[in-house]
Amino acid sequence: MADKRTITIFDTTLRDGEQSPGASMNLNEKVQFAHALAKLNVDVIEAGFPIASPGDFEAVRGVSEAVAGPIICGLARSLEKDIVRAAEALAPAARRRIHVFCATSEIHRNHKLKKKKEQIIEMSVQAVRLARTFTDDVEFSPEDASRTEWDFLNDVLAAVIEAGATTLNIPDTVGYAIPEQFGALIRNIRDKVPNIDKAVISVHCHNDLGLAVANSLAAVAAGAGQVECTINGIGERAGNASLEEVVMALRTRGDVFDADTGIDTRRIYPTSRLLTSITGLTVQRNKAIVGDNAFAHEAGIHQHGVLAHRETYEIMRPEDVGIPSNKLVLGKHSGHHAFRDRVATLGYVLTDEEMNAAFDQFIALADKKKNVYDEDIEAIIDAQSETAGEVWTLTGLQTIAGDSTTPTATVTLTREGEDRTDAAIGDGPVDAVYSAIQRITGVTVTLSDYQLRALTGGTDAQGEVSVEVVHDGRKFRGRGVHTDVVEASGLAYLAAINRILTVQNGHYRPAQP
Ligand code: KIV
Ligand code: ZN
Repeated sequence: MADKRTITIFDTTLRDGEQSPGASMNLNEKVQFAHALAKLNVDVIEAGFPIASPGDFEAVRGVSEAVAGPIICGLARSLEKDIVRAAEALAPAARRRIHVFCATSEIHRNHKLKKKKEQIIEMSVQAVRLARTFTDDVEFSPEDASRTEWDFLNDVLAAVIEAGATTLNIPDTVGYAIPEQFGALIRNIRDKVPNIDKAVISVHCHNDLGLAVANSLAAVAAGAGQVECTINGIGERAGNASLEEVVMALRTRGDVFDADTGIDTRRIYPTSRLLTSITGLTVQRNKAIVGDNAFAHEAGIHQHGVLAHRETYEIMRPEDVGIPSNKLVLGKHSGHHAFRDRVATLGYVLTDEEMNAAFDQFIALADKKKNVYDEDIEAIIDAQSETAGEVWTLTGLQTIAGDSTTPTATVTLTREGEDRTDAAIGDGPVDAVYSAIQRITGVTVTLSDYQLRALTGGTDAQGEVSVEVVHDGRKFRGRGVHTDVVEASGLAYLAAINRILTVQNGHYRPAQP
């Protein structure tokens, strides 16, 4: 029997995923997450869109320098300046790919690019040729492919293969496709593009109709050899195809697809958790594969069945996707070695200096609370990554609140070694803290979401606050963790403000060019 096909997994969490409102990450966080993707064994990491901003350029360069294993990819429009910039950012990578795109659908041709069909082909061919002067690995995407006339799409694809494209990515940019039809589109490309054997067909599906994974799988069944996806399915608007769902569908139903991936599925859950803690974007409880309820059996009949014979109601085992069967707890007597081991299992790659700093904070926390859980360790390390791009730090906080007093907060923030203290009143202690922070930083925001939860079980649990604020019409998230929930609230708010300031300093991507 012929071997199963291995589908290439192209992760775009750091590029399309980061286009989710509120999902912005700083350079440290991106490099940290790219290390986790390498451990997950993805084949390609799309690390950003280098021309888009200095921050994106630094991210692609930083990942290219630091992360070994996967191919590192950078996105570029079909413009010389984009391609040159992408090549520059990718230069340190051992294996690099330039991903050029050009919209092909009638609606994009007429209203966005204002170009005729022949001009689109010419631009695309020139772009691929130029990209090939920097690397042999060039991917081309006809943007909005699923709404492009099939014959024209085939003409574009044949021309870019001739120009040197090695991967042809077929994006369902607006999430319009339906599985049967999308599979037929891929089959048509395989049948009608004469030189298609010289390239790999890839797909990139958006989830506007909730069909991104179904469309990706239909494409695999029709012969696609690469799937583009993101952890937790984050991405522009309703998101992209979720990596964990695509990978586990191929693994669980290999009988149907006769295909698999090289993903180390036991790294799926830690990678999903890492993304959640970096971005503050939580997954819904019933999310397939990684949601809290994905393996929870509530109905008595189901519980009985699973106890009698697991496969009665479980098609995958939680341990196959890295969900720990029992939670390991550390305490103040746990040594450096146990801590280091746990940090590695959670998917982090830290320098010795970062590890020692995290260990000191772990010991300080273990002095305050008896049991230190994985979530506490994640919070310590994430706070370190966040502070790496920090502008202001919270160095003092006092609040007065109660039935017969006006809630008042006195806050001290430090920036470049200089302390600034201010006080404010509010509707409650958190509101007062937020007003004081706004007064000191001079950054005005509107709070659009505030969530507080206990990070772990137990009355000594740390409080985790996740906020979303709006500044100049854009959303930014921040997260804070502390045993005192008012302080956690202040930390979360300040983290969001620091992200805004990093944008203003040019470290963050403005709207896609
Ligand atoms: O959705 C899309 O079309 C894209 C392309 C740049 C591949 O993200
Ligand atoms: Zn996309």
